[in-house]
Amino acid sequence: MGTKILGTGIYLPENVLTNFDLEKLVDTSDEWITTRTGIKERRIAKEESVVEMARSASLQALRNSGLQPEDIDVVVLATLTPEKKFPSTGCLLQAELGVKKGYAFDLSAACSGFLYALEVSDGLLKSGKAERILVVGVEKLSEIVDWSDRSTCVLFGDGAGAVVLGRSEDESDLLASKMYSEGGLWDILYADKCGYIKMKGRELFKVAVRNMEEACREVLNTAGVSPEEVALVIPHQANVRIINALAEKLGIPRERVYVNIDRYGNTSAASIPIALHEAIEQGRLKRGDLVLMTAMGGGLTWGSALLRY
Ligand code: UT7
Repeated sequence: MGTKILGTGIYLPENVLTNFDLEKLVDTSDEWITTRTGIKERRIAKEESVVEMARSASLQALRNSGLQPEDIDVVVLATLTPEKKFPSTGCLLQAELGVKKGYAFDLSAACSGFLYALEVSDGLLKSGKAERILVVGVEKLSEIVDWSDRSTCVLFGDGAGAVVLGRSEDESDLLASKMYSEGGLWDILYADKCGYIKMKGRELFKVAVRNMEEACREVLNTAGVSPEEVALVIPHQANVRIINALAEKLGIPRERVYVNIDRYGNTSAASIPIALHEAIEQGRLKRGDLVLMTAMGGGLTWGSALLRY
């Protein structure tokens, strides 16, 4: 029995904030942001709450799976911007969707949240403790960005991505995954007393490339798969220079690496499921293909997962 992605969905706020808009807010330029990060614009939620974004993405994922809310027995929601301190945003989403059985919880692993959620869900499915799991990555980072700090406010965006997981009767499976954390490095990326994002960007950049490369090599080795066999790499979208450096180290050409950071910026736990959904919609990921996902974020947390879609 394998773990299969039955359907995906996304929600992105309509409101677009461009680099040119940011030039009016802080001392920055489109040129700096584009060359240093690859970001051109990002979506910023206006009316939408975290739960509403998660709900829209989840409903699309359910529709694409041909399933109803009552078919779901676990909701795992990855976020660092929960709707409330408690109850969990997962429980609020469970209520919004009308999921009646099982249980829901939030998972806090910053930008690695979706991959952590995938690994946990894979364990629940393979142990027989669940049959269908809704995994959501959702963020409203605009609420925890210090809009007067140019070193961080240009980087982040809002959005949600959702995936319905179930058991596979074919070759589809999460072939290997490996998660890591190093709590001693928490102060490289964290929320300060006011709740605003603080980041030691240059330090994180170096650690990110090294750690994601190692994590990718680990899962490829475990699964006995070579980089040439990977149809698509979906990296967390934090900086296009990190993505390019990683692709080069893995020896995977850019055509086989999914990038949408130019349109959405860094959406933390939502970035991989959003990219995954788009890649499937665009036909860049087909049934039977191998997809390698990897992320790095606050914690520090990081990891990689190799999935046969
Ligand atoms: O999602 C979790 C994972 N996140 C990451 O992995 C992020 C990793 N880090 C990065 O992506 C990059 O380090 C950043 C994009 C955050 C920054 O790029 P950088 O090339 O490392 O720039 P820097 O921080 O070394 O700053 C270079 C210069 C500084 O000026 P001085 O000291 O050289 O005069 C900054 O003050 O750029 C300046 N600067 C800016 N200038 C214009 C910083 N932010 C801006 C800005 N506009 N928005």
